[in-house]
Amino acid sequence: MVRQMVVTSAPGKVILLGEHAVVFGQPAIAVAIDLRIRSEVHPASTFTINGSELSGATHPYIHGAIKAQWSDGPLAMETESDLPSGSGMGSSAAVTVGLLAALRLLKGDGMDEKDIAVRAFEIESSVQGRASPIDTSVSAHGKGIVVGPCQAPDFLWHIKKDVREWFIHHCDVPRLNLVVGFTGIHAATGPLVAKVKRYADHTTFARDIIQEIGELSAEGVKRLKENDVVRLGELMTRDHKLLAILGVSCRELDKLVMATLPYSYGAKLTGAGGGGSMIALTDRTEEVCEAIRMKGGTPFVVRAGVDGVREER
Ligand code: PMV
Repeated sequence: MVRQMVVTSAPGKVILLGEHAVVFGQPAIAVAIDLRIRSEVHPASTFTINGSELSGATHPYIHGAIKAQWSDGPLAMETESDLPSGSGMGSSAAVTVGLLAALRLLKGDGMDEKDIAVRAFEIESSVQGRASPIDTSVSAHGKGIVVGPCQAPDFLWHIKKDVREWFIHHCDVPRLNLVVGFTGIHAATGPLVAKVKRYADHTTFARDIIQEIGELSAEGVKRLKENDVVRLGELMTRDHKLLAILGVSCRELDKLVMATLPYSYGAKLTGAGGGGSMIALTDRTEEVCEAIRMKGGTPFVVRAGVDGVREER
């Protein structure tokens, strides 16, 4: 051990287009947001997290990070989060990425966003059973990322798991006015991903929907570059409808999406669905926030395209 204490922070994310379909190799776009998780790590007499004994069953991501990156003595770890857990804003990825970074720095290794993204994906994938590297890669890199099935300009790294392969690319994020609406329902990603897999395994209809989501995302990459918020919004709203057909929306998410659409370019669920959060792309943030509150949700006005994992001094 080279350092006595390290503090890092890693951002949450929203997926603009392509969740779920990305697990099947379709393109998707995610942006890092200015809600972060800070992690502090220092040597101690036993392994603890926020004062409690570390347990693989209760803290699978943190336990996974220690297993992947640490072979020295016990550590006390503290985390402090701006992100509600299970909100679809990438809290599990941000905590995993932030801790992996802190452990590297504690050992005297430098920051290496690719290595952190690859290890964090392995952890998330083993905890959830099945995952794409979108959350972990955007939390490590920050800004925006496009995950696609092949290498394109602005390539960052590629990640392989079983028969799937994802190519991660940097994406510049223009100034976007995004409001997140949290339903207050904590939904686990794993079962929703498994539900879509069952559907896709059994019907060509579901596979066609997944393909169409991929096409929306591919167009979205171009519209984002042109800052064409009108078309980007339309793509988002269409994506929501397709995700609802796949069975990953819920009444609360649909209510928030419907309530915000009159004041938005577009709106959709973001992340795994089944609860969690939706996003609206808008110039009328106050009206969108009010619409979300009126339907019982919690609004967050977020800044997109922020720094990835970093050391805090
Ligand atoms: O865990 P969430 O809510 O951020 O969702 C991640 C996005 C999915 O496409 C549903 C799963 C994945 O690993 O890509």
